[in-house]
Amino acid sequence: MAELILGQVLRYEGNPMEEGADAARHSARGGVLVEGGLIRAVGEADDLRRAHPQARVTDCGTHLLSAGFVDAHAHYPQTAIIASWGKRLIDWLNAYTFPEEMRFSDPAHAAEIAGRYFDLTLSNGTTTVCSYCTIHPESVEAFFAEARARGLRAFAGKTCMDRDTAPEGLRDSAQSAHDDSKRLLERWHGVDRLSYVITPRFSPTSTPEQLAALGALWAENPSCLMQTHLSEQTDEIAWVKSLYPQARDYLDTYEAHGLLGPGALFGHAIHLEPRERDRLKEVDASLIHCPTSNTFIGSGLFDMDGLSREGHRIGLATDTGGGSSFSMLRTMAAAYEVAQLRHRALHPAELWWLATQGSARALRAGDRIGNLAPGMEADIIAVDLASTPAIAQRAGRAGDLWEALFPTIMMGDDRAVAAVWAGGRRLEQPA
Ligand code: GUN
Ligand code: ZN
Repeated sequence: MAELILGQVLRYEGNPMEEGADAARHSARGGVLVEGGLIRAVGEADDLRRAHPQARVTDCGTHLLSAGFVDAHAHYPQTAIIASWGKRLIDWLNAYTFPEEMRFSDPAHAAEIAGRYFDLTLSNGTTTVCSYCTIHPESVEAFFAEARARGLRAFAGKTCMDRDTAPEGLRDSAQSAHDDSKRLLERWHGVDRLSYVITPRFSPTSTPEQLAALGALWAENPSCLMQTHLSEQTDEIAWVKSLYPQARDYLDTYEAHGLLGPGALFGHAIHLEPRERDRLKEVDASLIHCPTSNTFIGSGLFDMDGLSREGHRIGLATDTGGGSSFSMLRTMAAAYEVAQLRHRALHPAELWWLATQGSARALRAGDRIGNLAPGMEADIIAVDLASTPAIAQRAGRAGDLWEALFPTIMMGDDRAVAAVWAGGRRLEQPA
């Protein structure tokens, strides 16, 4: 039976990074008609009620209905070590991340953390994530099994590391990385709403042979995305130069091994050289902005203004657990603050778009998720714009939607997410 969800509605008819806030459409009393897992209609509440008298009505009052958030870069295995103190990237990986990732050879641990991760992300209104797993195939199985059980569109892949820069016990080989990734891809890619992502962690922990093997696998499976890290910290870039003396720059370590193309997702992309920017734009690869991580690990300030003006395809992400939050609201707030430090005030329409349609486009799924429109998958959230006393008193003075929404962007958390639908099914909110 069809469900008619009523509330304020926010959707997009264009890209506000290019067209300004007018690309957004707001209805103060609108609705979304959902049937068979898809959005069938979006419009004014009264019109939809009249046209669909049989539909079951869920009235969300003044809550804001939006597409669910899309987190374009995360590490679900780092859930339990989020907010670990005092290190920069390489030391943080060695001190906190790698020891925790070793535990994912145990399927029970992987299942427990994957379940916990989806409970946390869904309670924060994130209906799609693109995650790294660990080197263990078990970690991929656990991720996809939990995503599937919840009916989610989800992206993930086995993280590959075969170089002795990664610790003993957390290394595969060029061959096993290729073979395991291929097997997992054949098992999960395209099953229900799941997509496999070819995942070399980053150049410093792979040999050129492994990068080439994964490049070959990607060439054979071009419908998969490929995700990795690029130019996150200056120490990391110097390390890459020492490990790959022939490379023109960091991006070239990927490009030379078949790992640069339209379906490539590059996390961070902060300290880019002009050639890298040009090539990334030329091939229309995706850059994933991870602002809470970039401040937390001390990486730097992503050039949102310059890169968006150049027309790069940009997504937004938590990068948990290098990022310090599971919330895309908190992530939008950090993106705002980082852009302010570079003298660009991102409009709430741009921030919300980056967290929904922008990230969905980065994952090449913008025609299915990340917006409210007929034919799109019914991943929907209802957002309470007065979820705490501090937010409520500020929103109470708002003169328009953007003024009403911005306090929730800057100060909101999971308390603002009143309801979540994934694939048209309303999810129970974990306590
Ligand atoms: N670079 C390589 N691996 C990682 C990781 O797990 N987190 C972050 N933030 N950067 C990385
Ligand atoms: Zn990452």
